[in-house]
Amino acid sequence: MTNNKRELCLSGTGVTKIFGFGNRKTVAVDHVDFNFYSGELISIVGESGSGKTTLIKMLLGLTSVTEGEIFFMGKKRDISSHEKKKEYWRGIQAIFQDPFSSYNIFSKIDSVLLDCIHMRGGRRLPKAKKIEMMREACSFVNLKFDEMTNKYPFELSGGQMQRLMIARVFLLKPKILLADEPTSMIDACSRATILDMLLKLRDEIGMTIIFITHDMGLAYYVSDTVYIMEKGKFVEFGTADEIILAPKAEYTKQLLDDIPKIHDPWEFSRNKKSTA
Ligand SMILES: Nc1ncnc2c1ncn2[C@@H]1O[C@H](COP(=O)(O)OP(=O)(O)O)[C@@H](O)[C@H]1O
Ligand SMILES: [Mg+2]
Repeated sequence: MTNNKRELCLSGTGVTKIFGFGNRKTVAVDHVDFNFYSGELISIVGESGSGKTTLIKMLLGLTSVTEGEIFFMGKKRDISSHEKKKEYWRGIQAIFQDPFSSYNIFSKIDSVLLDCIHMRGGRRLPKAKKIEMMREACSFVNLKFDEMTNKYPFELSGGQMQRLMIARVFLLKPKILLADEPTSMIDACSRATILDMLLKLRDEIGMTIIFITHDMGLAYYVSDTVYIMEKGKFVEFGTADEIILAPKAEYTKQLLDDIPKIHDPWEFSRNKKSTA
């Protein structure tokens, strides 16, 4: 970002989650500190089991925080009542790994989108205006609204479904979107499209995106800032370039080492030579 007056939108100090008790205790998230700034795409990278989803659930207010504080827009977060939680969710929304798990598969796609308009206070808008808004949301994610009406979510592919989830976010316009491995259950072809749409939400709407992944390559491709998570702790954070080009933590170096084994074109051409 060129803007040097960065606005803090979500931060935390000593945020911890412990599951269970005694010798069955799991410290899933272990005293993490973070500062996420408005309009940035922040990646949290770590292996499976490192605590990423638990952190996202705490940020969203779906899981209680064992210890530590979370601040939203500079104020200590208060989600102590149902009303306050609803208000908080106006500012923060999430998309998950499995798009089909996220909502009732028996409600039709247009009613899913209509609900978002209503949640944003648009219940009394004229029908034509609502249709125009749904059309715009579908076109933002390259879905054809006319093909969506009267369909059920299970009639869509995983990639289309995840795009629909992004259309929902487009209508809800939260300040922050938490995206927990949104591309890991869909085909490779749709994967790049989803990432591009996250970038579009950042660039065209100014949304702050917190993108969870275990793939360092993906994180580098999309992020402004990268946090590296190992066994419930943040071992390092910095700009995407700092983390990829000058990693400090051993764990980060290890994650980076894992990338070329699959993608390195140089390795590939070298192998070709040796067989020629
Ligand atoms: N509801 C739960 N009860 C007990 N342990 C849990 C629960 N959810 C997650 N864990 C444990 O917390 C750790 C972190 O899990 P998770 O946040 O899902 O990691 P990630 O998303 O990085 O794969 C794991 O050891 C997992 O087994
Ligand atoms: Mg997870």
